Amino acid sequence: KNTRFNIAIDGPAGAGKSTVARHVARKLGYIYIDTGAMYRAVALHMLEQGIRPSEPSKAKQAMKDIRIELLPGEDGQRVLLNGLDVTRQIRTPEISLMASQFAQHEDVREQLVAMQRELATKKGIVMDGRDIGTIVLPSAEFKWFLTASVDERAKRRYAELKDKSEVTLEQLKHEIAERDRQDENRVISPLRQAEDALLLDTTHMSIDEIVELMVKETLSRIEGEQ
Ligand code: CDP
Ligand code: CDP
Repeated sequence: KNTRFNIAIDGPAGAGKSTVARHVARKLGYIYIDTGAMYRAVALHMLEQGIRPSEPSKAKQAMKDIRIELLPGEDGQRVLLNGLDVTRQIRTPEISLMASQFAQHEDVREQLVAMQRELATKKGIVMDGRDIGTIVLPSAEFKWFLTASVDERAKRRYAELKDKSEVTLEQLKHEIAERDRQDENRVISPLRQAEDALLLDTTHMSIDEIVELMVKETLSRIEGEQ
């Protein structure tokens, strides 16, 4: 029997979710879906339309002409917004914060969650985000909640961005802490560990160590089902 799982990975910014999810998916022959990229694409769309997070009815209207596509690329997933490749453009601290603000809108979440569930109907998906284990795929066969200290997460983001932008470590720490606060305290689908998720503090773990552990645990659970 060829058992395929859906794997949900949630946690705060910089915990290592997307990097780890991509590797785990590759090792298992699964498809990786980065839901954060969808919220980021929404934020970019709103920015281009001049719509602010404090304008929910305009945002609702603007969601009607937004088309997001996720495509497999050479170094990870590529993101298309209305046909244009915005993969790099959506990775700025400004877009990070805006994504977190528009992610509080009910209409935005409804539309993206529907898309995410649709993408996961065929098993063999690794999906990362904030509400995957709790809301998007509550019946996922394996759920992880990745965390790390704010200092460590800011350092990781800084290492990633320091050659590409002017941003400082302090700014990133502030942005991440603000986003944690927003994501944990919003009314709809706040960032929470699902009851049946495994908690993994990655502060002192390398990417390889995390990936190895997750693959091992997944394979052993699959074996147990066969
Ligand atoms: O998706 P999420 O925001 O949770 O984190 P990420 O984008 O996967 O990881 C943020 C950065 O931390 C990336 O540059 C990773 O390569 C790095 N990282 C690391 O250095 N050590 C880890 N144990 C996990 C991630
Ligand atoms: O990569 P990083 O962890 O910094 O952020 P992301 O996963 O790209 O997500 C950007 C923002 O989108 C988050 O701060 C959340 O506010 C929102 N988001 C969400 O609400 N639900 C998800 N499933 C994924 C992202």
